[in-house]
Amino acid sequence: MEKAVLKLFFVAVFMFIPLLGHSSSSTEENRELDRWFQKLDYSKPKLTRFHFYFHDTVSGPDQTSLPVVPSPKSIKPSLTLFGQVNIFDNPLTKEPEITSERLGVAQGLYSFASQEEYSVLLAMTIVFTSGTNNGSSVTILGRNPVLQPRREFPIVGGTGDFRLARGFATASNYVANASMAIVEYNVTVLHY
Ligand SMILES: *[C@@H]1O[C@H](CO)[C@@H](O)[C@H](O)[C@H]1NC(C)=O
Ligand SMILES: *[C@@H]1O[C@H](CO)[C@@H](O)[C@H](O)[C@H]1NC(C)=O
Ligand SMILES: *[C@@H]1O[C@H](CO)[C@@H](O)[C@H](O)[C@H]1NC(C)=O
Repeated sequence: MEKAVLKLFFVAVFMFIPLLGHSSSSTEENRELDRWFQKLDYSKPKLTRFHFYFHDTVSGPDQTSLPVVPSPKSIKPSLTLFGQVNIFDNPLTKEPEITSERLGVAQGLYSFASQEEYSVLLAMTIVFTSGTNNGSSVTILGRNPVLQPRREFPIVGGTGDFRLARGFATASNYVANASMAIVEYNVTVLHY
C-alpha cells in the first residue's frame, strides 16, 4: 500500500516537472532561454584561447590596484602581507607594452592568503572590450603564488559568449617589482 503511494508520488513529480518548465516559458525572454538550453543538447563545446598581458600597477600616477584592507598588525607583523586585500581595475594588452592594443580589463580583488610566501587568493572577471567576444567575460577564482614562475587558475564561469564556461588560465611574470607587475596570461575556455 505504502509502495503504491510512493509510486504515485514519483509519477506525479515527474509528470509535473516538465509542465513547470513549460509554464515558465510564457514570456519571450524565457522562450529565448529555452531555445538556448535546447541548443546545448546538440552543440559541442567550443575551445577558445586568449593570450594577453595583465598590468597590475600598485603605485605612482597610473596606479590601478589599491590596497583597501591592510595586513592587520595585531595578528603578527607579516612579511607576506598576510591579510591585505587589493582591489583592482587592470588593463589587458596584446603585447607587454601598456601602449599596445587594449584587449580588455580585469576587475577584481586579491587577498594575501599565505603566512609562508607571497600568495594571494585571486578573484577576478576578465571582460573583453574588443574583437568578436567584445562584452563577454570569464571569471577566475584561484590561488596565485605570485613569485612562482608559472601559476594556473580555474575559470569558474562566464557571461555572453562564455555562458557556462569552464577552463583554466596560466600566468607568468613578465615584469614584477615593487611598483608594478606585468603578467603574461594564456586562457583556455571551453564554452558553447
Ligand atoms: C565593444 O562594445 C562596446 C559596447 O557595445 C562598444 O561601445 C565598443 O565600440 C566595442 N568595441 C569594439 C572594439 O568593437
Ligand atoms: C603562453 O603560450 C605561449 C605559446 O604557447 C607560450 O610561449 C608561453 O610560455 C605561455 N605562457 C604562459 C604564462 O602560459
Ligand atoms: C618596475 O618595472 C618597470 C618596467 O620595467 C619600470 O619602469 C619601473 O621603474 C620599475 N619600478 C621599480 C620600483 O623598480
